[in-house]
Amino acid sequence: MTDTDSNIKIREHYSAIGFTERIKAALTAIAPESQVLTVAQLAPLDQFHTRGILATAELAGATGLDAFTHVLDLGCGIGGPARYLVATFGCKVTGVDLSPGFIDAATYLTARCDLSDRIMFQVGEALHVPFDDASFDAVFLQHVAMNIADRTALYKEMRRILAPGGRLATYDLVRRDGDVVYPAPWARDASASFLLTESETRTALEEAGYKAVLWRDDTEVALDWFKAVMGAQRQGGLNLGLAMGPDFPAMTGNLARNLRENRLGVLSAVLTRD
Ligand SMILES: C[S@@+](CC[C@H](N)C(=O)[O-])C[C@H]1O[C@@H](n2cnc3c(N)ncnc32)[C@H](O)[C@@H]1O
Repeated sequence: MTDTDSNIKIREHYSAIGFTERIKAALTAIAPESQVLTVAQLAPLDQFHTRGILATAELAGATGLDAFTHVLDLGCGIGGPARYLVATFGCKVTGVDLSPGFIDAATYLTARCDLSDRIMFQVGEALHVPFDDASFDAVFLQHVAMNIADRTALYKEMRRILAPGGRLATYDLVRRDGDVVYPAPWARDASASFLLTESETRTALEEAGYKAVLWRDDTEVALDWFKAVMGAQRQGGLNLGLAMGPDFPAMTGNLARNLRENRLGVLSAVLTRD
């Protein structure tokens, strides 16, 4: 695993020390330890991207998964998307993430959902994943690319491990006009943030050997979602503040502001590897 200066910062940002213990404590208010949890129960906590489980469901539907698909969820966070895919399509998912604290929480939550037989999580670095060539049918990349400086290398590494005809499903933030306001959910300042514009993203993907089958601007629908959830934001209970700390609402507020002021956009894309 390479440890670049930016990876050290990013690992620190997502370090989530004591996270699994905080989750266990928060879950006691929801269900006893002996009760199997559902994907829906965990959704306020474990979908670490704009529009939460709605975005995961749309992207998965557009990717076309079934019980025989093996998916790599790269930058899997605490595993909410992986659990959704397995519970919905019966596929197999491998989740890889830079953060040991997130992988620990992902493994714990997956056991609580009784889905461990079809999901495997491991700590790893996106540019050097420990898998053979052509070993996955699909790669999911949701709100991860903006943490990775060498975008072409990232997309090429995903292409390497995809089987011919395999699909890359990516859901990310793209840079638009003006400076991005930080702290944001993925970075406390610009030094750990590597946003591209929509057209730079498309060029990087095409240079890495992909063809788009879906390319969609989801900014407006994301803004509508923010209006709805920010009006009804819960205090306490299950939410990503358990991982990211007390300033998580400020980070989320800045993300909404960046979208509202056209500093950022939201892009969904599904691509085939030729
Ligand atoms: C905003 S979270 C998204 C998590 C998950 N994809 C989701 O949507 O719920 C970004 C994740 O990317 C991971 N990440 C960032 N840089 C990475 C890298 N170079 N290799 C692997 N994971 C990385 C972080 O640790 C974090 O869990």
